[in-house]
Amino acid sequence: MLQKRVNGMPLVYLDSAATTLKPQSVIDAISQFYTSEYGTVHRAVYTLASHSTARYSAVREQLRQFLGAQSSDEIIFTKGTTEAINLVAHSFGEAFVHPGDEILISAMEHHSNIVPWQLLCERKRAHLKIIPLLETGEIDLKAYEELLSPRTKLVSVAHISNVLGIINPLSRIIASAHRSGAKVFIDGAQSAPHLPIDVQALGCDFFAFSGHKIYGPTGVGVLYGKKELLEQMPPYQGGGDMIQTVTFEKTTFQPPPLKFEAGTPLIAEVMGLGAALDYIASHDRDQIAAYETSLAQRALEQLLSIDGIKIYGPLKGRTSLFTFNLKDVHPLDAATLLDLKGIALRSGHLCAQPLLNHFGCSSALRLSLAPYNTPEEITYLGEALIQIKDKCRSLR
Ligand SMILES: Cc1ncc(COP(=O)(O)O)c(C=O)c1O
Repeated sequence: MLQKRVNGMPLVYLDSAATTLKPQSVIDAISQFYTSEYGTVHRAVYTLASHSTARYSAVREQLRQFLGAQSSDEIIFTKGTTEAINLVAHSFGEAFVHPGDEILISAMEHHSNIVPWQLLCERKRAHLKIIPLLETGEIDLKAYEELLSPRTKLVSVAHISNVLGIINPLSRIIASAHRSGAKVFIDGAQSAPHLPIDVQALGCDFFAFSGHKIYGPTGVGVLYGKKELLEQMPPYQGGGDMIQTVTFEKTTFQPPPLKFEAGTPLIAEVMGLGAALDYIASHDRDQIAAYETSLAQRALEQLLSIDGIKIYGPLKGRTSLFTFNLKDVHPLDAATLLDLKGIALRSGHLCAQPLLNHFGCSSALRLSLAPYNTPEEITYLGEALIQIKDKCRSLR
């Protein structure tokens, strides 16, 4: 992918917050699994199946370490962050949310962290309350704490906003929720790729992220849940693998995590995710973070030098993504013109329509970085944006 040309130009991939490119080792691991190691998990005793089962369980243990969880029984494989949120909305919702109860989310959430809770509240005649934002886009902590009540069953917020790139103050958010008796779900889709995660230190009750955003394959993600909660939650889906005994009168279930993994799981995808975690572990994360920070600083300087640019959210305390608009240039036009120059930059509502509305716009451009980006690419983007801005203005 890094050698690829798009529209005759070298590809400059600046949409890693949507999905990252894949290291060769991840592609090779999946290919090798299908080519010469393929077998199902859990259900058979033959050598291939027991080998697959051992490797599948080993990735669960890798994830336990990656997230700092106490037990690998707290790690559930899902299709991604979205399915993890839907799983909790259904299962936790079934067990713990009753008419009149409240779920709190912030106004900066990705649609995946809005819609499942909306659906839950409709099903249960509960209320979805929205934590307002300050003008800057940061969570209004005072308003949040005033919204918490004995009726609040769960608070669900992003660790890092997919639009603003800012890191939310989780320790205060989680401590306040717990003081009022609410559980906390952290949407880690944008943080797992960039920050070391320690769910025990955070103290959150649930944490989710997507494999495809941390160099792994699509179709696999992770839900962490505290064991004592998972044990009290009913199954999300029924099928093979999640049962202990089945009769027509009654079915008994496996303990977590298998209780939540109905059907033949994402075996090859899990192997690929394991290879992605190996890839991350084989690099110095501090060094990578320092490199990303230097690229982000360069990108910020480049963007700020463009006359008429509006960057959304505070400029400090963010990771390596920037959402912005150019005065008098429609973001979809800009993204199309950038594509002609080989630059892949996200445009549109960024799956966060309420947040864009907060800033009085319905569409924007987003640049997001990964360690495979270079300073030269940032310079090339800056020059391209200036040319596009001048061209669009000259047409007006
Ligand atoms: C903050 C956030 N939450 C949730 C999601 C949904 O992730 P997925 O589509 O991989 O389930 C994304 C993806 O863009 C995201 O950025």
